[in-house]
Amino acid sequence: MAPALTDSAPTAPHHLGPISRDIFPDGLKTTGQHPPLYDHIHPFDEFPRQISGPTVWKPEDYRENPEKWTHVFSADEVEELSVAADNFLAAKIPLTGISKSNFPLPNLSKDLLKLRADLIDGKGFILFKGFPVEKWGNHKSAVAYMGLGTYLGYFVSQNSRGHVLGHVKDLGEDSTQIDKVRIYRTNARQFFHADDSDIVGLLCIAKALEGGESDIASSHNVYNTLAAERPDVLKTLTEPIWYFDRKGEISKGQEEYIRTSVVYLERGENARVYTKWDPYYVRSLTRFSDAGIIPPLSPAQLDALQVLEDTCNRHALHMVLDVGDIQFLANSHVLHARTSYTDHAPPTPRRHLMRLWLATPEEEGGWKLPFWDSNEKKRGGIQVDDQAPVAPLDAE
Ligand SMILES: [Fe+2]
Repeated sequence: MAPALTDSAPTAPHHLGPISRDIFPDGLKTTGQHPPLYDHIHPFDEFPRQISGPTVWKPEDYRENPEKWTHVFSADEVEELSVAADNFLAAKIPLTGISKSNFPLPNLSKDLLKLRADLIDGKGFILFKGFPVEKWGNHKSAVAYMGLGTYLGYFVSQNSRGHVLGHVKDLGEDSTQIDKVRIYRTNARQFFHADDSDIVGLLCIAKALEGGESDIASSHNVYNTLAAERPDVLKTLTEPIWYFDRKGEISKGQEEYIRTSVVYLERGENARVYTKWDPYYVRSLTRFSDAGIIPPLSPAQLDALQVLEDTCNRHALHMVLDVGDIQFLANSHVLHARTSYTDHAPPTPRRHLMRLWLATPEEEGGWKLPFWDSNEKKRGGIQVDDQAPVAPLDAE
């Protein structure tokens, strides 16, 4: 056994330094991307043969039973959110300073606590319906959405510009320029991946004319399938041989990429399997592999990449987000994809989703991740230097 299977908190080779409230209104800074603690990366023979429990689900468990994963907001819940949002707006607090204390939800918070537990430790997904975005408009909707999110996790920055409220929208950027362009700013297909946060939320403001639909898969179900059919692929995914592009979103002194594994073990007893994956980010590094700075993807890696995508597709639950729907997913053990899409012709609005990335630190029930920041409130996300958080109301 490797010596790393202990319950000790990771020692921090990094630290956040002093955090200025002038820059970070809630006194919390997103920790951002970084390599794992390599001594917490385990060889494949220490991984479970099979995973069991509620995190392992098949699409047929849920396809015909949307009531098992859908929460339709009641009139009382909408009213509670509406009052909290109106009071928050009246107080003129910046959106980046929203927290449970200035967005009280005395009743809904109890349900949200249960849903949060099911996101983190259970099936890992939920669809809320009936968020009145058209009635409220984008500003009040954004407040209510971020306020709701504070009950699930701490919002983190999603890009180098400090966006803590992201906007998934086709901005006409060239999706073939994968070393520069983030795919959420295009209408291209997104292959199965996880985002750089514990939880991701998507609130549908406007739908596409066609496509842009969601697929999700239990990565623990995918794991079990690979363990049975292609243990060689699973082994490749557990090795810290994968370079992930940072697409230039780096702080001073940091590397342009991160070397890590795709499938990890949590730290401590009864360690769960954690997946962190995005094929676009491993494919976009040819500018470094061509120059001999990092190795190119090996045939085994290219095979693993394809087998993982195919296996996710076989086990995918399809979901369509209507206007006013909010999808929350746990990136730890759910992978997601979306189909490519075509927008309506103007003046009909383009497809628009408001995105939240939420962090669930270890001390508040989050997974024990093999990263130095596992206990930080705003672990993960993308933070470049001291970029201040911003919550724009539309794509920019
Ligand atoms: Fe995503």
